[in-house]
Amino acid sequence: MFDTVRCEKLDSMQPEQTSEESTLRQVYRLRVLAFKADGLIPPSLSSSAESWRDEHDEHAIHWVVQREGVVVAAARICIHQALDQVPDAQLFIDTGISAEPPIACFNRLVIAPSERGKGVSGKLDSVRIDEAVRLGCKFAVAWTHNPKRIKPVQDLGFRLIEYARHPTAEQFSRVAVFMRRF
Ligand SMILES: CC(C)(COP(=O)(O)OP(=O)(O)OC[C@H]1O[C@@H](n2cnc3c(N)ncnc32)[C@H](O)[C@@H]1OP(=O)(O)O)[C@@H](O)C(=O)NCCC(=O)NCCS
Repeated sequence: MFDTVRCEKLDSMQPEQTSEESTLRQVYRLRVLAFKADGLIPPSLSSSAESWRDEHDEHAIHWVVQREGVVVAAARICIHQALDQVPDAQLFIDTGISAEPPIACFNRLVIAPSERGKGVSGKLDSVRIDEAVRLGCKFAVAWTHNPKRIKPVQDLGFRLIEYARHPTAEQFSRVAVFMRRF
């Protein structure tokens, strides 16, 4: 009985796409909360910022996982025709890779501390890969500062190109940079 209830709860935590402004406002706040829970200030933000939003949020495809109407996990991809247009472009350009468009950039994966360790990030990864394939992307890039993410990203078919210093955010002195061809 207990297991059935638990499985139903996990199953109900399915990612859904959203472009609703009020939901996205929750996403921007969750990004700050999730990073700060790990003792980090997100790139290009001051320590007092309560919300993390950038110009790519306008065109990105967003997914959220909600629990009783509250966003507890989120991620996005954005699709670009050139590597110098993706978020944190310099990181990828510096590796010397040549990327065939359309290019999907995977970023802004955040899970509320209360929902970590339950495989929610894997669900958000799966839906993003499926969408990149559906949209005909030929290439994908991603980076992470978080060692916990390296194996899951590799398991998704990404190749770890190199470790690098983030060009603009000094708190990220060693990040893993990934690419994947479709
Ligand atoms: C990194 C992050 C996305 C992982 O999300 P997640 O849904 O907890 O991922 P998983 O469920 O796969 O768990 C990750 C690991 O943490 C372990 N874990 C277990 N309980 C945990 C808990 N309460 N809190 C954190 N991690 C826990 C899991 O067992 C798993 O270990 P394994 O890979 O050895 O099996 C999440 O911690 C997060 O939002 N961090 C802050 C923002 C960030 O770093 N984003 C990634 C940017 S690329």
